[in-house]
Amino acid sequence: MADPILKWVGGKRQLLSDIRSHFPIEYDQYHEPFIGGGAVFFELEPASGSINDLNRRLINFYKTIRDYPERLIEENEIHTYEEEYYYEARDRFNELHTLEERTVNQEIEEASLMLYLNRTGYNGLYRENQSGEFNVPFGEHSNPDYIRERQIRAASAILEDIGISNTDFSYIIDRATSNDLVYFDPPYEPVSKTADFTQYQSEGFDKSDQERLRDIGAQLNDAGIHVVISNSPPVWELYKDLPDFSVNYVDAARMINSDADSRGDVAEVIITNVPTKQQQQQNLQDYV
Ligand SMILES: C[S@@+](CC[C@H](N)C(=O)[O-])C[C@H]1O[C@@H](n2cnc3c(N)ncnc32)[C@H](O)[C@@H]1O
Repeated sequence: MADPILKWVGGKRQLLSDIRSHFPIEYDQYHEPFIGGGAVFFELEPASGSINDLNRRLINFYKTIRDYPERLIEENEIHTYEEEYYYEARDRFNELHTLEERTVNQEIEEASLMLYLNRTGYNGLYRENQSGEFNVPFGEHSNPDYIRERQIRAASAILEDIGISNTDFSYIIDRATSNDLVYFDPPYEPVSKTADFTQYQSEGFDKSDQERLRDIGAQLNDAGIHVVISNSPPVWELYKDLPDFSVNYVDAARMINSDADSRGDVAEVIITNVPTKQQQQQNLQDYV
C-alpha cells in the first residue's frame, strides 16, 4: 500500500475502504480512467492495467515517475522553499506547458516543478485558470517535502507495467477486456440530494459527459467487465434503467476529516455492476 504523491481535488483517501468494499474479490487487470491523485490506485498497487487523465501535466508527471524516477529525484533537489523562488518556478511551469514539443529533460523539469508547486503552494491545491495557467499562490508549510525520494521509487515500481494515457475516459472501451475491473471517479461536486440533476455541472464535466459515462458503463457491463463508479447523489437517476447496476449511498459522516465545510452533509454514491456476493465486503463479512 503506497501513498499518493500529489494532493488532488476530489482525492478519495477518506473513502478508500467504502470504495474497495464494492470491488470484486477476483479480477484480471485494473483500470482507472480518471486517475487524479490516484488514492485508490496507489492503495491497491495493481500488477497490471491502465491509468488515464485528461490533464496533460498530471499524466506527464506519472510517466516521468514510471520511466525516470532517479532523474526526477535529482531534479527535485534543485528547488528551494522560498517565496520568490516559488513564483519563478510557477512561471517556468506555465511556460513549459505552452511548448508543443518537449524534450525529455523538459518533461522531467515540468514533473519536478509540478511536485514542488503542489508541496509548497497554498493548501497543496492544484488549480488552473481558464487559459490553463496554474495560478495557486505561495503557501506556508512547516516542512514541505518536495523531494519525496521514497514515495517516488515506490510509485515507480507500482507503475512499471501500467499503461498511462492522456485522453478522454472513453479509451477504456478498447482497453478493458472481460473480467477486468474499471473504477471511475469522474469530476463532480457533491450537491444536495434534492438538487435538480440538470443543473449539475463541474469542471467542464456536464450532464452529457455523465450520460456518456453511463453508456460506457453499460457497454463494459455487456462485455463482462466489472464497473465501479463514484459519483454525487443526483447521478443515480441515470442508472435506474440498467438492471445490472446497483446504487449504494455512502455515509457522509465518514468524510468529516476531509473538507467537510465544502461538502456539507451530502453522501456520495457508489454505483456498480458487481453482484453483492462477489464484492470484497461479502468476503470481509465471512470473517466477522
Ligand atoms: C475527481 S478527480 C479524480 C480524483 C482521484 N480519484 C483521486 O483520488 O485523487 C477527476 C479527474 O478527472 C479528470 N478528467 C476530467 N474530465 C475528463 C475526461 N473527459 N476524461 C478523463 N479524465 C477527465 C480531471 O482532470 C481529474 O483529475
